[in-house]
Amino acid sequence: MANIKELLVSTLYANFDDHPWAEINKGQEIKVVQLRPSENLIVLQLRAQPFVVGGLHKHVGFTFGFTTKGAWSHNPKEFPYLPNSFVCEPIDEFHRYCNGPGITETYFINIGEQLYYDDEGREIIRRSTAQSLHDKYMAKCEELGLPRPNVMN
Ligand SMILES: [Fe+2]
Repeated sequence: MANIKELLVSTLYANFDDHPWAEINKGQEIKVVQLRPSENLIVLQLRAQPFVVGGLHKHVGFTFGFTTKGAWSHNPKEFPYLPNSFVCEPIDEFHRYCNGPGITETYFINIGEQLYYDDEGREIIRRSTAQSLHDKYMAKCEELGLPRPNVMN
């Protein structure tokens, strides 16, 4: 994991309104404002459609979430993560993103890879990194005819 000194930057200002939404998984759109592959730093906003359930995964490093709209959790039956709340997701522990009945918006800051597993948690089927997210986000923006914002900061 990155030393905190490596994450320090001179001022970076980014307005989420200047970055397009791109659907990266069915029912899950993201706006990315900062990616730094050398430290695996990811800063994004996630918007999820009602009752979307994400893939089973583990985090290698910290994941902090700030919810501004809707309701979600790691449990498909209860959604206690509400607007104006903060969540620190577990490191090296299986969980899934489970959206509630409305549209949810959450800002996430991740440091480190996300490892996606098969439904039984036996095998890694995908690694999500700052670089792979960059490639996916840019490809989606291009596909949608949207501008490709500079996010490598
Ligand atoms: Fe997670």
